[in-house]
Amino acid sequence: MSEKRATFASKIGVVAAAAGSAVGLGNIWRFPSQTADGGGAIFIMVYIGCILFFGIPLMVSEFLVGRASRANTAGAYRKLAPATQWKWVGRLGVLTGFVIMGFYMVVCGWTLVYFFQSLSGHLYGVTDFSANFTDLQNNPAKQIVWMIIFTLLTAFFILFGVKKGIERSAKIMMPLLFLLLLVLAIRAVTLDNAVQGLDFLFKPDLSHVKSTVFLDAMGQAFFSLSLGMGCMITYGSYFNDNTPLVKTSVQVSILDTLVAVLAGVVIFPSAFALTTNPGTIVDDLVAGGPGLLFITLPELFNQMAGSMIWSALFFCLLALAALTSTISLMEVVTVYLHEEYRISRRKSTLLATVGVIILGTFSSFSSSFFNILDVSSAKIMLPVGGLFISLFVGWYLDQKLVYVQLTNNGRLNFGTGFLKTYIILLRYVAPLAILAIFIYGLAG
Ligand code: PHE
Repeated sequence: MSEKRATFASKIGVVAAAAGSAVGLGNIWRFPSQTADGGGAIFIMVYIGCILFFGIPLMVSEFLVGRASRANTAGAYRKLAPATQWKWVGRLGVLTGFVIMGFYMVVCGWTLVYFFQSLSGHLYGVTDFSANFTDLQNNPAKQIVWMIIFTLLTAFFILFGVKKGIERSAKIMMPLLFLLLLVLAIRAVTLDNAVQGLDFLFKPDLSHVKSTVFLDAMGQAFFSLSLGMGCMITYGSYFNDNTPLVKTSVQVSILDTLVAVLAGVVIFPSAFALTTNPGTIVDDLVAGGPGLLFITLPELFNQMAGSMIWSALFFCLLALAALTSTISLMEVVTVYLHEEYRISRRKSTLLATVGVIILGTFSSFSSSFFNILDVSSAKIMLPVGGLFISLFVGWYLDQKLVYVQLTNNGRLNFGTGFLKTYIILLRYVAPLAILAIFIYGLAG
């Protein structure tokens, strides 16, 4: 191939782009509802365990496979393991990308609806925020229109190319979103009774725990870190030879976890403080499901001077955070079609766009279809992909290549203890833990 593959321009750009993929609705919308469902503090503890024991090692592995092959997800396996069936893992990743986008874009559409409802003042004319969200859910046409708009927006950035589109947008909005969350967190914890929400988040209470907590937390960890489908393989393929893979993975994981926990600190104290039924609040949180963010947050904004401005700003930044994630998802599919089937980038983007719009339309009509896509991607497809990645790098790949990638050809110094730990995590801990969690989760 004569065409030169793009690379990210700066060090900050690398972290920003990977973090841009990781930080998204997974942190701010999905994490709080999973935490509510999973019983609060214990869910968070298991979640953080998952990030440490397989999140970070698997992210390093995906980066490594991407940079060693400089190819799309399926191409990466084809190059590093020619004439084997490993390419199917890459293809599974592409399919997973479609499945995720099939419901994710719908939620992206909701963020736009709420952005415009904030701007127009509509959101603060309503008194029942729960009913406001139900109205939206009962209006598939509206959801479809905004889902399509968001998908087209994503496609637009994909066509712009790697450096300009992805990097630029990620660098500006990430710090802004973080700051805004910080402000909101401060407001939330200073509400009366906020402390109960903090307790729910940080004080383990066994009476709330569900038997599926491991599977749920693992799925959320994969989802939130964009792991298990080759997103980070694709981004790793744009890294240059000096990008430190381990450091980048650690930085991205810390950022991602911070944003998720911060979102929890915004949502839970608000929910506990502002509820009119304190007796049933935990059940209400669980029942709130996907609506949690879209119901509780407007209530919090209502407590703040200049509610419309905060609200508009928040939903705008949330939409942008979601956009850097949808860009990474669509990039996986597009570059796969482009490189594996030699379809032009333009046509590949078009194909991806049409596929996503079809799935998104079904998700808008049916919340059970939406849930099937959500559950099957996060709790099955991503962990399966992660399992294979760990086996691939831990057992199949030449360990010299792994060493060269980790150390940037010997230029970075890690103790042998560190490298050994990494390999042990990949060879034994991650695959066995993922398998065990699957079996336990299915039995539970
Ligand atoms: N990590 C993204 C989020 O938290 C979602 C995502 C999953 C993106 C998988 C890419 C791949 O919102």
